[in-house]
Amino acid sequence: MIADRLLIGISQLVSPAGLGAARGVAMGELEIIPDAAIAIAGEHIAWVGPRSEWHGTAAVEQHLSGHAVVPGLVDPHTHAVWAGDRLADFEARVSGIPYESILASGGGIRSTVRHTAAASAETLLALAEHRIRALVRSGATTVEIKSGYGCTRAAELALLEVIAALALRSQVGIEPTLLIHVPPVDAAARPDYLAMVTTELIPETAQRGLARAVDIFIEREAFTLAEAAAVFAAARANALSVKAHVDQFHAIGGLELAIEHGALSVDHLEASGPAQVRALAASRTVGVILPGVTLHLGLPAAPARALIDAGAAVAVGTDLNPGSSPLFSSQQALALAVRLNRLTPAEALTAATANAAAALGRGDIGRLRPGTRADLLVLESADWRDLPYTLGASPVERIFIAGHEVSS
Ligand code: NIG
Ligand code: FE
Repeated sequence: MIADRLLIGISQLVSPAGLGAARGVAMGELEIIPDAAIAIAGEHIAWVGPRSEWHGTAAVEQHLSGHAVVPGLVDPHTHAVWAGDRLADFEARVSGIPYESILASGGGIRSTVRHTAAASAETLLALAEHRIRALVRSGATTVEIKSGYGCTRAAELALLEVIAALALRSQVGIEPTLLIHVPPVDAAARPDYLAMVTTELIPETAQRGLARAVDIFIEREAFTLAEAAAVFAAARANALSVKAHVDQFHAIGGLELAIEHGALSVDHLEASGPAQVRALAASRTVGVILPGVTLHLGLPAAPARALIDAGAAVAVGTDLNPGSSPLFSSQQALALAVRLNRLTPAEALTAATANAAAALGRGDIGRLRPGTRADLLVLESADWRDLPYTLGASPVERIFIAGHEVSS
């Protein structure tokens, strides 16, 4: 075999076992190869195995000083494009005013929508690029980015264009999602808004290739089940995948509805109970937990332990956004999932790699094996468990995306 690059001097090469989304006990199954080598050809992994079993030739050989290598992290849920801040909300919340009351009184998400509308595309691009760089420094090699702070046809399309521009200029893989975030304040305007979303915004997004999935916030202060069903139907009719923000504050049936519509993922789950755990475990949908929200809003932790024990597939993301999760590290999201959601270190690695990839419908990333994109992290230490262990500093030393080292 002839490769462009051979990485050697790897104390442990660690990757989730299996294929596709790992469910239940399979989430804890890792392949660990001591004293390993990885051969890279073009943008992909050509070979992995024990160093002693490599018999090919490589143009370049790089020694990784006996450090551990894991797959690049996949952050399956961010809202990285916004302007303004939510610092006043933050102060109000810590003094006892609930997130939902702030939203219901026209603040919260709606204040970010106003600030975002007042910013130019260049400003939004620069702000988002800075945030994405922080996620990459923490080990993210693919990041999903949602629109959602537009809330008009033109403003949502403009946000998706910013995400497309970001994808063109950054090395990290970007997965764009159209988020239908909050309805008009005036209840009488809701039917027209829904009609615009389903007959104009979603078809135009699909035709222009601006997103691969449509997400919707299903909640008492956001969209109803009937509204979400219409959005899901429009997404599917336009060949877009669906996902949803569900059970963040109340389990009002959003999880069950999204599963019925074949959602790739249902995200949040802080208010999910035993019925939702059973429904998700019996489905092919991935449950995305967002421990930054638990930490920042003081919500209950999503029942990830119960989900995995029931056989579900769980992924983890930052939910990077100004209101509910100002968490600029995908590695920290993984590490928090161990503390707050009671995942084992091995399950957390799977949640942040293979299962996060599955939550985006991607089978070509999230594992280190021949044929996958060569997205990988060299850790600062010889033991991969430093990745879920470390808090407040990055245990990631070097980052490779599509076969090339990126400067972080
Ligand atoms: O995932 N829940 C709704 N949307 C975001 C929060 C957005 C915001 O507060 O600005 C979330 O938590
Ligand atoms: Fe979110």
